Amino acid sequence: MKKSLFRLGGIALVLLVGFTACKKNDVPVNAGSALYQRLGGNMGIKKVVDDFIGIVVADNVINGFFATTARSQERVDRLKMNLVNQIGQAVGGTETYTGLSMKAAHVGMGIKDVHFNALVNDLVAALKKNGVSDADINTIGGALVPLKTDIVEP
Ligand code: HEM
Repeated sequence: MKKSLFRLGGIALVLLVGFTACKKNDVPVNAGSALYQRLGGNMGIKKVVDDFIGIVVADNVINGFFATTARSQERVDRLKMNLVNQIGQAVGGTETYTGLSMKAAHVGMGIKDVHFNALVNDLVAALKKNGVSDADINTIGGALVPLKTDIVEP
């Protein structure tokens, strides 16, 4: 009797450990914010950034700034990775941005208001293309506005 109770306890323990391990795999510890989820997580943001770069390259107001970048696939990939991480982190995702500060990244480029606005419009176009709601676009836009003073030069 004692032996079978012991065995029962063992089975219960195995089930409990198995269930907990399963839950751990199914639900990531940090799934990110609701906004991050609505954007489709890391995959969704990658798609937005891919579309965004395509729109920027076709935008005559600002594509000149990216002429050197566009000549190196490695550089384009690094920029994309940095943008995905920056946007992911800004919307409460699981990414960590490891690139330069916005000031250091853009210093000396001579970026003016007109360029900044064009780039933000291109990002909005990429977000719309991916079905992001106007409310979420406003939230993301709101997070970008404070960066303007570090990017635009007088
Ligand atoms: C909210 C606005 C902007 C954000 C969030 C942003 C973000 C970034 C990031 C994350 C990087 C990479 C930094 C690194 O290499 O560590 C970068 C680089 C760069 N940005 Fe921006 N940027 C913005 C506006 C602009 C504007 C308006 C222009 C020009 C029209 C511009 C042109 C560039 C260029 C040319 C690079 C260098 C790319 C390379 O590494 O080859 N950015 N930006």
